[in-house]
Amino acid sequence: MNYYVSASVLSADLLNIKSEIEKLEKNGVDMLHFDVMDGIFVNNITYGLPVLEQVRKATDMTLDVHLMIADPAKYVERFAKAGADIISFHSESQSDTLATIRAIKSAGAKAAVAIKPNTPAESIYEFLPELDMLLVMTVEPGFGGQSFISSTVDKVRLIRQKIEELHLDCDVQVDGGINYETAPVAREAGANVLVSGSCLFKAEDMSEAVKKIKGEA
Ligand code: DX5
Ligand code: ZN
Repeated sequence: MNYYVSASVLSADLLNIKSEIEKLEKNGVDMLHFDVMDGIFVNNITYGLPVLEQVRKATDMTLDVHLMIADPAKYVERFAKAGADIISFHSESQSDTLATIRAIKSAGAKAAVAIKPNTPAESIYEFLPELDMLLVMTVEPGFGGQSFISSTVDKVRLIRQKIEELHLDCDVQVDGGINYETAPVAREAGANVLVSGSCLFKAEDMSEAVKKIKGEA
């Protein structure tokens, strides 16, 4: 299995975003995880299209956009145009899941569905054949720096089993509370794309941190 680390921009120094991105690239981070929150789907507000456009100009890294917004279908085309390579949206949002997946793909981006900690694995099985990635939230969406919810691990395992059973090529991403203790647990259960915010940005040696999260050190 190929493992990837996606760095959560929420934990970066936003006034120095360009040098932060250069540091991530230099230290072997694979993707940038861009959390968009609208204050309706979650109780927090972050950044959106204009910031993503600027980030796109600053890097060739894969931009992994996580939409925590009430009606993602309305915006996916604009996020794809702004430079998103992968767009994740929540199955718990008000948009129709299949129609939103199709809209992302026809806008030229890779499509992912995200599920909150209490959403059952079975609820998304029917969409797996359409997806490039499935995002299992390992904390309640809304804030960086929270603790990993262990009950989500079995869900990761079930989803990976289903993907294998169906012979699909679909990444499994985990997001929230990923650190040196929880990353091995998530990998063992079948996650291969690991989002890291606070752990990565707090690390004294970022390149070592990336290796540890991927299980290479
Ligand atoms: C939470 C976000 C996460 C978060 C991860 O709603 O989706 O991407 O920023 O941050 P850490 O790694 O600090 O939990
Ligand atoms: Zn996220």
